[in-house]
Amino acid sequence: SHPQTKQVQEIAADYNHLPERYIRKQDEEYGSVNNAGVSSPITDDIPVVDVSLLTSSLSELDKLKSAVSSWGCFQAINHGIESSFLEKVREISKVFFGLSMEEKKKYMRAQNDLEGYGNDMVLSHNQTLDWTDRLYLTVLPKHQQKLQLWPQNPSHFREILDEYSCKIESINKLVLKALARSLDLEENCFLNQYGTNSTTNARFNYYPPCQWPEKVLGVKPHADGSAITVLLQDKEVEGLQILKDDEWVGVPIVCDALTINIGDQLEIMSNGVFKSPVHRVLVNSENERMTLAMFCMPQTEKDIGVVDELVTCERPRLYKNVTFTTDFFFKNYQQGRRAIDACKI
Ligand code: SIN
Ligand code: FE2
Repeated sequence: SHPQTKQVQEIAADYNHLPERYIRKQDEEYGSVNNAGVSSPITDDIPVVDVSLLTSSLSELDKLKSAVSSWGCFQAINHGIESSFLEKVREISKVFFGLSMEEKKKYMRAQNDLEGYGNDMVLSHNQTLDWTDRLYLTVLPKHQQKLQLWPQNPSHFREILDEYSCKIESINKLVLKALARSLDLEENCFLNQYGTNSTTNARFNYYPPCQWPEKVLGVKPHADGSAITVLLQDKEVEGLQILKDDEWVGVPIVCDALTINIGDQLEIMSNGVFKSPVHRVLVNSENERMTLAMFCMPQTEKDIGVVDELVTCERPRLYKNVTFTTDFFFKNYQQGRRAIDACKI
């Protein structure tokens, strides 16, 4: 076992040296260009999609399709969640991470479990750890919630997170239907693969400022194992980067937008038409950063596969049918591999 007693928040506050385990290694990096940069340029090119127009405007639908086929992500505006509610969601995160360590540790995850509060999970002895503390919770289906790990401080934490989960679930449905229509497919063809108990996991991310920002990463390069991920970014502090054509580009903060990216499961279902982008997170020396990622995906243990209509003579089937479990994802991740590569035919 690998005891990991300190949270990143404690390391950032108490130490004047950086523990070896957090120092990034070149051989773990993706992409050939611009690797070291702590301040690579923010791009204005990531498409901004008006979600409220996706049922009525073909040009908006087309914009969505081209965004996820090239970038694998887009900024969703007019998604139906009020700005004041997004503020409440940011607030519960801020209050929680601001609690004393003693209080937060009541919700500590077990050493080999993802769920609960804690720093990066140690999967192997030589793994570089991410400069982030997290609160990771299964929010849907409801009967899989482990409520003992849901903070009761602030007092409305559970209520707000439940409400947010329902709203995200609606956005997930709307976006998946639109994505199917954008390819002239029956609108439920992706959602049908979710099964009856689709899963949503919430990950609250807290990135403390770091005195050596160029020596660590908030999150190492990875692609998500979800079908789609809906990210509520920090209101002011940037840090997310996406790998596009072998270059890291910074994802801007768009006021009241949700940043949505494709995950491996939808790349598979779409036979590679939609891209699950590799991304990473930089930290900075001045400001803490808080984000909330909602991972939407098929029910656990559900077999998924390429939608038959997307297999043609010009585009043969690229992926096997798979059961995309957390274990499967992390086994590959731990070895520095993309889980999706293990699904290729
Ligand atoms: C992640 O991709 O794991 C986190 C994204 C972010 O915090 O910006
Ligand atoms: Fe991610």
